[in-house]
Formats: sequence, C-alpha cells, structure tokens
Amino acid sequence: MWAVAPLLLLLLLPPLARLWRRRAARLEPAGRAVLITGCDSGFGHLLALRLHRLGFTVFAGCLYPDGEGARRLQREAAAGRLRVLRLDVTRARDVLAAKELVLSHMPERGFWGLVNNAGISTFGETGWLSMEKYEKFTDVNLLGSIRTTLAFLPLLRKYKGRIVFMSSIIAYFSLGNGTYSMTKAAIEKFCDALRLEMKKFGVRVCIIQPGNYARCTKIQPPISAEEIWNELSEEEKAVYNKEYVQERVNFFNSMLSKGSTNGNEVVDAMVDALTSPAPKARYMVAKLKEKALVFVCALFPTIVMDSILSYAQSKVKLA
Ligand SMILES: NC(=O)c1ccc[n+]([C@@H]2O[C@H](COP(=O)([O-])OP(=O)(O)OC[C@H]3O[C@@H](n4cnc5c(N)ncnc54)[C@H](OP(=O)(O)O)[C@@H]3O)[C@@H](O)[C@H]2O)c1
Repeated sequence: MWAVAPLLLLLLLPPLARLWRRRAARLEPAGRAVLITGCDSGFGHLLALRLHRLGFTVFAGCLYPDGEGARRLQREAAAGRLRVLRLDVTRARDVLAAKELVLSHMPERGFWGLVNNAGISTFGETGWLSMEKYEKFTDVNLLGSIRTTLAFLPLLRKYKGRIVFMSSIIAYFSLGNGTYSMTKAAIEKFCDALRLEMKKFGVRVCIIQPGNYARCTKIQPPISAEEIWNELSEEEKAVYNKEYVQERVNFFNSMLSKGSTNGNEVVDAMVDALTSPAPKARYMVAKLKEKALVFVCALFPTIVMDSILSYAQSKVKLA
C-alpha cells in the first residue's frame, strides 16, 4: 500500500492543482494596465479586445496604428480604456514612448502586465536565408521582447505584475523553419532565467507555447516555391533544384493547412496567465499529436527525434 502512495500522489496532484486554480479568487482587472505588443492582428488583437471586455486598461501596441487592425480596435473599444499606440518592438524610441504613454495614463492600481506577443515567422533551410533576414528575425522575435521587457521591468517590479511571452512548440524542434525555431528557443531560455529572478519581487513570468494556429492568424500565410527559389543565391541554386524546393514547400504548406482554427484557445491561456492567482510557468496549447512530438523531443535521445523528423525531409535527390 505504502509503495503505491507516492504514485497515487503524483497522479492526483495535477487534477487537485487544476481544481484549486479554478476555485481560487481571480484578479480584479479594473484599474490595472496591460501593454500588449503586436495587436494589429492574430492573438494580440484578440487579447486586446478580451482584456478590454474584462475591465483592464489596455495599451495595444500596433506596428501600423493607421492600419485596419488598429482601426478595428479603436472602433470596438471606444469606451476609452483601450489605447492604440504605435509600437515597433525593434525601435528603442517606440518602446520608450510606449512607457511614457503608460506612465502618463496609469490607472489607480498601476501596471499589471506586459504581453510580449509581436512576432514574425519564416520558412527555409539554413543557407537559404540571408544574414539580414537572421538579424531581422532575431530583432523582432527575441530582442524585441527583451527590449520591451527591460523598459517595463521597473514598473512590473513596483506593482508585482505579470510578464507573458509568446513562444511556440517549435522551440523544441524545427520543421523547415529553423530561424523561427531558434528565436523561440532563445525566448524560452531568457524566460527561464527571468522567472527565477523575478520570483523574489512577486513578478510572475509565463510562457505560452501554441501549436500550429497558422490558419487563424497572419503569422505564416502559405508560401510560394517560386518566391523561395527566386530569393536563393546563385550558390544555393547550384546545389538545390526547383523540384526540391517545391517538395519542401508542399510539405510546409500542407502542415500549415492542418492548423487549429480557434485562436481563442490560445487567448484563454494568455488571459489565465494574466489573471489566475496561480499562473503556470508554461501553457502548452496544442493538439495531442503536437504535444507527443514535444514529449519525444524533450525525453528521448536526439537520434529518436531526428528519425521522426526525417519524414519531413525532401525525397528529391540533389546532385
Ligand atoms: N499562429 C501560430 O500558429 C503561432 C504558433 C506559435 C506561436 N505564435 C506566436 O504568437 C505571436 C502572435 O502571432 P500571431 O500568430 O497572432 O500572428 P500575427 O497575426 O502575424 O500577429 C503578429 C503581430 O506582430 C506584429 N508585428 C510584426 N513585426 C512587429 C514589430 N517589429 N513590432 C511590433 N509588432 C510587430 C504584426 O503586425 P502586422 O500584422 O502589422 O505585420 C502582428 O500584429 C507571435 O509571437 C508568434 O510567433 C503563433
């Protein structure tokens, strides 16, 4: 009997923790400010509307404040608690201006949350992308989140707030988008350090790891093999061929077309991270198949994962 007790405890812990999390009192959003980056479309856009509806004071950072997404936010949240601001996370002066705006319109209960949501995605084997592209992806997906976090850290410490980062299950493996994968893996490590360091200040750091939701956001529209081929350098064209590129693109597009369509599942996790009395360090919002891939990747030797992922490789022979 005593031998099975630890096992029983292990099995019972997750449902008990879930029950406790559900029953514990939620945060009162009124009078609390949250800044979200990348609200022009996708999860950021949905989250801005949701948080506004819940009663938060929302600062919605948009890359294009005159664009359709920003205008829709302004229309739907005309009550005054949602402010659209220009925020390109690669520009330090935009980030500082965002901080000034938050400071000058701070609600009574202060600055509660920063959601580092802005991101861009790409496709291509390592040698296909130029150095400029690597710099751009790192600047938006990784340094952009760090830049914004550093600017708001003093406020978050002062009000014992929350920081939410958008990672991806792609942080664990790559399926033809190694650059994107690299930036998400780096964000995970940044958060691991930050989460521990912020604990003593009462600041909680949460990571959201969505699976494939490409069909319900603008992150990665279907790609064209023609465009990829035209962008290759002459040296790469001498090694690869059009048929190879086409096959890789077909695989990637077919994967994108199987993505989940309910972006609100991801937004639910973002809201939980901001409002739960006991937020999780990581929220994996993915299909069972995607979770199984992550599980294999995290627990088995690399050779197992490489064998599984080799099905994604092109069968076209290269000279
Ligand atoms: N959808 C998925 O399957 C999925 C899966 C895992 C993780 N994620 C992550 O979720 C986050 C949100 O993406 P999403 O899927 O909602 O895609 P999305 O619709 O493309 O949203 C990304 C937002 O970031 C904005 N943005 C791009 N560059 C920016 C910059 N330099 N500064 C500020 N904002 C910038 C985009 O603006 P514009 O629209 O004006 O370009 C857009 O509003 C990203 O971090 C993404 O990596 C998405």
